[in-house]
Amino acid sequence: MGRWKAMPTLEDYLASQSGRFESELCELLRIPSVSAIGEHRGDIERAADWVLGQFQSLGFRTEKISTSGNPLVFAESPAVSGAPTVLVYGHYDVQPVDPLAEWTTPPFEPTRRGENLYARGATDDKGQMFTHIKSAEAWLKTDGKLPVNLKFLIEGEEEVSSTNLFPFVERERAKLACDVAVISDSSQFAAGRPAITYGLRGIAYYELRLTGPKQDLHSGTFGGAVTNPAKALCLVIAALVDKQGRIQVPGFYDDVAPLTDQERQQFAALEFDEAAFMRQIDVDGLSGEIGYTTLERRWARPTCDVNGLTSGYQGEGAKTVLPARASAKFSFRLVPNQDPKKVSAALEPFLRGLLPPGIKMELIDFHGAPGVVVPLDSPYMAAAIRAIERSFGKKPVFMREGGSIPIVTTFRQQLGVDTLLLGWGLDDDNAHSPNEKFNLADFHRGIKASAYLWAELAKQSP
Ligand code: BES
Ligand code: MN
Ligand code: MN
Repeated sequence: MGRWKAMPTLEDYLASQSGRFESELCELLRIPSVSAIGEHRGDIERAADWVLGQFQSLGFRTEKISTSGNPLVFAESPAVSGAPTVLVYGHYDVQPVDPLAEWTTPPFEPTRRGENLYARGATDDKGQMFTHIKSAEAWLKTDGKLPVNLKFLIEGEEEVSSTNLFPFVERERAKLACDVAVISDSSQFAAGRPAITYGLRGIAYYELRLTGPKQDLHSGTFGGAVTNPAKALCLVIAALVDKQGRIQVPGFYDDVAPLTDQERQQFAALEFDEAAFMRQIDVDGLSGEIGYTTLERRWARPTCDVNGLTSGYQGEGAKTVLPARASAKFSFRLVPNQDPKKVSAALEPFLRGLLPPGIKMELIDFHGAPGVVVPLDSPYMAAAIRAIERSFGKKPVFMREGGSIPIVTTFRQQLGVDTLLLGWGLDDDNAHSPNEKFNLADFHRGIKASAYLWAELAKQSP
């Protein structure tokens, strides 16, 4: 009888390594890789190197690719001939942490409380992205090989709109060639309600800067005759949306793909608990475009939000001043088939036409990305449904999301593939907010679902 050492099963391996997976994730979460703030450039580099190191230790062919912004990490598993190729995308950059005072524990000191791990990036997207790295590890350590070919593309500029990733994907179509893309950077429908997301909104983000007199003035001496830029800003911002919640930029709705009756019925069947939703964010009322439900407004209708407002005296007490300038950051969420460039072209003259005398404006166009809907009837989708059901113990529901992942449309256009949006997060994970968290049970279920996904996708011929 030959001696043989039984390899652990995939499930046993995942169970035995769960503590290490969590502590490795904490290492990555300790790196403050905030892409919006230039001062974190060194941390961005460290996070990219850390991710690269993970792939190196799996024996993948790895590349750190510098761009004119933040580096990309590309990694490719050893070839499995005849098996499909899956492109996994994720991002190692995170959003700024302000308001810092509202965090219970510091954002870059990952802390476990109950079943949750708290840190900036825990769910968006370090924790979710990491599930696919650990599932690949589990296959290699229990089977010696992967059932599919995996390519990983992990970027550091998603939270600032993937500006340098678009040209990279266009240039490197051969390197990125694949049969399907997978992204875990979204949410389940609710706790215990796993979901597959089939639609994301797009975005168009701006800053409007208004200037009036050459410097701040006494509001008694000058007020009433000199146009106040803060008032002008309120007027302009208020004119963006009417009382029905309809955006007033000319032509804005021309290309909007309408919700079908069938889709409206599917949303309505989702058992959305509006009262619980309001409790979660502690508000006693909701508002939005007339004629649409909350889920329709969040997932499938365009909208406009003010993201920041600045003008005048913000210090202690009262100061009678007529400020010299005022500015706002604001953005539209777009739906298929709106084009962010078309929105920008119509926005500038619309705003200019609203300006009262004595006010000059500058409009900064930060970034844009179109919305996307992916088909539900592909064999890859069927594989994803089976993998999620096996791991989470429940069939996923289909949903859309209001957030944006800019590169998804580019994968379709440049690589000719659809993306499976498999979110392990929850709506109350506090992404982009204080006290971001990720449920650790979902982290481990995500790893397992990912491991099953490779096996299920392997059943599809490429
Ligand atoms: N992970 C989110 C996108 C997301 C949010 C998907 C909620 C599904 C549900 C992503 O990191 C994100 O925040 N994207 C930005 C994109 C923007 C900066 C171009 C967003 O949506 O604001
Ligand atoms: Mn994300
Ligand atoms: Mn995000």
